[in-house]
Amino acid sequence: MMKGACVWSLVTVCVLCVCVAYKPVIIIHGLFDTSADFINLHRFINLSHPGTNVTVLDLFDRSASLQPLWKQVEGFKEAIYPIMQHAADGVHLICYSQGGLVCRGILSTLPDHNVHSFISLSAPQAGQYGDTDYLKYLFPQFVKSNLYHVCYTAVGQKISICNYWNDPHHRDMYINSSDYLAILNNEKENPNSTAWKQNFLRIKKLVLIGGADDGVITPWQSSQFGFYDENETVVEMKNQKVFLTDIFGLKTLYARGDLALCSMAGVAHVFWHSNETVYKTCIEKWLT
Ligand SMILES: *[C@@H]1O[C@H](CO)[C@@H](O)[C@H](O)[C@H]1NC(C)=O
Ligand SMILES: *[C@@H]1O[C@H](CO)[C@@H](O)[C@H](O)[C@H]1NC(C)=O
Ligand SMILES: *[C@@H]1O[C@H](CO)[C@@H](O)[C@H](O)[C@H]1NC(C)=O
Ligand SMILES: *[C@@H]1O[C@H](CO)[C@@H](O)[C@H](O)[C@H]1NC(C)=O
Ligand SMILES: *[C@@H]1O[C@H](CO)[C@@H](O)[C@H](O)[C@H]1NC(C)=O
Ligand SMILES: *[C@@H]1O[C@H](CO)[C@@H](O)[C@H](O)[C@H]1NC(C)=O
Repeated sequence: MMKGACVWSLVTVCVLCVCVAYKPVIIIHGLFDTSADFINLHRFINLSHPGTNVTVLDLFDRSASLQPLWKQVEGFKEAIYPIMQHAADGVHLICYSQGGLVCRGILSTLPDHNVHSFISLSAPQAGQYGDTDYLKYLFPQFVKSNLYHVCYTAVGQKISICNYWNDPHHRDMYINSSDYLAILNNEKENPNSTAWKQNFLRIKKLVLIGGADDGVITPWQSSQFGFYDENETVVEMKNQKVFLTDIFGLKTLYARGDLALCSMAGVAHVFWHSNETVYKTCIEKWLT
């Protein structure tokens, strides 16, 4: 009896092992980061989901992260594709800060991706408009109100942050000049918009994480597709044109019940990936 039960529990454990194999996780970093910055996140995943194959991509590190986002999309795509091909049950993507926009570029333009959870970790999904330390460092002669002179030019668009610079007082110029965000959002005419929307909608879950004490993403609601109107009043995602028109699939995801928002106060921008409370509350459950 005892022996039989023992064998059976062993069999059960092994069957469970096979069934609960966690999908591989791919992590894409943000501006000025390297893969070393994600050691804590990697550790949290190891601890909660042992055996997960975690890849923190080490491309476009540090100053190379200023390269144009379409170029980064192509580079990261090449690195991600073989990982996807080896993952019959799909993969999860965690994309931090600027990396969240790179991931959207990948998901929109890769027709056969198998991403389940797309976790956007404090990423300026609706664009950026703020006088941050990054801006002071990169463009010491400029402030948010005049950076459009640089960003909305062909030369400016060769710098990643200009690809998603979204000046609410110069919407026409943004739509005319933004080579990246305005195209991804289909705010600018894009002959491939239908295909891109289909590609994007292959994801099973979109998780948008952000919070009021971020200090870099401005407005912080951009991490959840909220943004400034012409008076710098924040309009939340559900009242944004890109949501209402469902132009790239956001409203479809919402209607499907596959759009999760996770807001947390008390987290400064550089700590999102090393804060265990954030991991436990907003990330862990989507990595099965
Ligand atoms: C996570 O686990 C893998 C495999 O056991 C190990 O090689 C790696 O060093 C661990 N990483 C961290 C950050 O704990
Ligand atoms: C983890 O994934 C990478 C990329 O697909 C693969 O090369 C590697 O062999 C995998 N590692 C394990 C332990 O399965
Ligand atoms: C947008 O581009 C068109 C065509 O190049 C140009 O005629 C128009 O003046 C531009 N508008 C703005 C606001 O830059
Ligand atoms: C649309 O897709 C075609 C074929 O994949 C590509 O050559 C073209 O550059 C795409 N257009 C845009 C605006 O990305
Ligand atoms: C912005 O403020 C002006 C002046 O108060 C007002 O007329 C306008 O309607 C406001 N715009 C929006 C989008 O609320
Ligand atoms: C981690 O997040 C919690 C919850 O938002 C916050 O109270 C705490 O201050 C954060 N810790 C760090 C080091 O950012």
